[in-house]
Amino acid sequence: MLECLIIYKNQKPVNIKNICCIGAGYVGGPTMAVIAQKCPDIQVTVVDVNADRISAWNDPDVEKIPIYEPGLSDIVAATRGRNLFFSTDIEKAIDEAEIIFISVNTPTKDYGVGKGKAADLKYIEICARQIAAIARTDKIIVEKSTIPVRTASTIKDILEQVGNKADFQILSNPEFLAEGTAVSDLMQPDRILIGGDIDTEAGQRAIDTLVTIYNNWVPKERIVTTNIWSSELSKLAANAFLAQRVSSINSISELCEKTGADVGEISRAVGADTRIGDKFLKASVGFGGSCFQKDILNLVYIARSYNLHEVADYWEQVILINEHQKRRFAYKIIKEQHNTVSGKKITMLGWAFKKDTNDTRETPAIAVAEILLQEQAEVVVYDPKVTEQQMVADLERYGVDAAVIREKFKVCTTAMQAVQGAYAIAIITEWDEFRELDWAAVYRQMVQPASVFDGRNILHKQTMQQLGFKYFAIGR
Ligand code: NAD
Ligand code: UGA
Repeated sequence: MLECLIIYKNQKPVNIKNICCIGAGYVGGPTMAVIAQKCPDIQVTVVDVNADRISAWNDPDVEKIPIYEPGLSDIVAATRGRNLFFSTDIEKAIDEAEIIFISVNTPTKDYGVGKGKAADLKYIEICARQIAAIARTDKIIVEKSTIPVRTASTIKDILEQVGNKADFQILSNPEFLAEGTAVSDLMQPDRILIGGDIDTEAGQRAIDTLVTIYNNWVPKERIVTTNIWSSELSKLAANAFLAQRVSSINSISELCEKTGADVGEISRAVGADTRIGDKFLKASVGFGGSCFQKDILNLVYIARSYNLHEVADYWEQVILINEHQKRRFAYKIIKEQHNTVSGKKITMLGWAFKKDTNDTRETPAIAVAEILLQEQAEVVVYDPKVTEQQMVADLERYGVDAAVIREKFKVCTTAMQAVQGAYAIAIITEWDEFRELDWAAVYRQMVQPASVFDGRNILHKQTMQQLGFKYFAIGR
C-alpha cells in the first residue's frame, strides 16, 4: 500500500472511515458487499429510495436478498451488520460518508428530447442535489453509474451552485462487472478505472484515496488512472466493443446457415488469432441485459450531438443486427412450424438475459415471446430464477396486451412440466440445467414432429437428431 502512495504522486490519501453508496441495485449491492468484505475497517452503507429493495437486502434469510449472484449471499452473510448496512436513511448516510458512490440507474430516456436514445440522467441529478443539500463536510463523489461523457461537469455544477462551502471532488469509477459473474469480477477485476481531476492537487488526492481502497485487494498495476473524460468514455466504449463482437459473430451466423459453414468452428478459428481472442464470440439469439443497448444508444446519441454521423451510424449497426437476430430466431420457429403457430404450444426455456442471473432487462426472451404471441401461439415458459410476475411485467412494458398475456402466456415451475404437449422448444437462456435435461424424456412429452430451436447452441446436434428431434441451432 505504501508503494502505491509513492507511485500516485505524494498526496496523502484521506483516511476513510465511512462510505455511502446511493443505489442498492445490481451494481451498488454486490460492489459494496465486496468493498465491505475487503475493507473491514470501513463502514459501508448502501441506501436506496426503494424501501422494498432495502428490506429484501436486510432479509434475515440471506438467500432472499434481491439479487441473485453466485457467491454473493455468503459475502452478505459475513459482512451485513458488521460493516455493511442497507438503509433508506439517505440523508444520514450522505452526511456521515467521506466517499459517496452514485450507483443509480441511468436508463434510456423514454420522453422528450433524446427519447429512446439519450441516457436519462434525472436520478443522477437528484443524487447530486441531495448531496449538495446535505453535505457539511468535504466529500469525494464517485460516479459508479454508467453515464455520458462529461457528466462530471454537470454534477460539479450542481454541487458548486447548490451546495454549501464543502469541497467536492468528483471521480469517475465505472463498473465493469458482468451479471452472473459479478462476485469473481469484483474480486479479480481485469482493471479498476479511476478518472479524476489529475491536474489539481485536490483531484490527485481524491484519486489516491480511491486507489488506496481498491489496493486492499487489487494489485496496483491493475488500477488505471486517467483524466475524468477518458474514464467516462472508456466505459461506453468497452460495452460497445463487447456488444460489437456479439453482433459480429451473430451476423456471420446467418451467413453460416446459408452456406453450410458452422459458426462454432468459425469462432474457434477466428478466436485462435491472439490479436482477436476467443472471448465473446458465442453466436446467440441476441444479446440482452440492461446496458449494452442503452450504452450504445447513448454513444450514438453523443456522436450525433457532435455531428459525427458516420461514427453514430457505425455503432448503431450493432443494435440493428441484434434486433434482427432476435426477430430472425422467432420467425424461424414460425417458418418451421409450417408458417403457423396459432393455437400451438411453444415452450421457451429460459427468460433471463443470460444464465446465473435473475435479471431480465432487455432479455431477447421478450422480443421472441412477443412475436410468438402476436402469431397466436400459446407460450409456456420455464426459468429457474425469474418469477412469473417479472415475466408478465416485462411483456406489459413491451406493450403486449394484458388479455393476450392472461390467455396465451403460462409460466411453469419445472422444465418437464413446461414441455408437455409442446410443438417446439426455444432455448433462450443457457442455464446449465437445460444441457442436463433428460432430452429423451422431453421428446416423449412433445407433439411429433418435435422441434428444438437452440438459441444458445448448448446441445449436441447429432444426439438431438438421434433422439428424433428436428434440431435447429444458430449458425449451423
Ligand atoms: P438498478 O436499477 O439495479 O439499481 C439502481 C438503484 O438506484 C435502484 O434500486 C433505484 O431505486 C436506486 N435509485 C435511483 N435513484 C435514486 C435516488 N435518487 N436515491 C436513492 N436511490 C436511487 O441498476 P444497476 O443495474 O445497479 O445499474 C446502476 C448503474 O450501473 C447504471 O448506470 C448501469 O448502467 C451501471 N452498470 C450496471 C451493470 C450491471 O451489470 N447491471 C454493470 C456495470 C454498470
Ligand atoms: C456487460 C459487460 O460484459 C460488463 O463488462 C459491463 O459492466 C456490463 O455489461 C454493464 O455495463 O452492465 P452483462 O450485460 O452483465 O455485462 O453480461 P455479458 O456477459 O456481457 O452478456 C451480455 C449479453 O451478451 C448476454 O445476453 C449474453 O448472453 C450475450 N452474449 C455474450 C452472447 O450472446 N455471446 C457472447 O459471446 C457473449
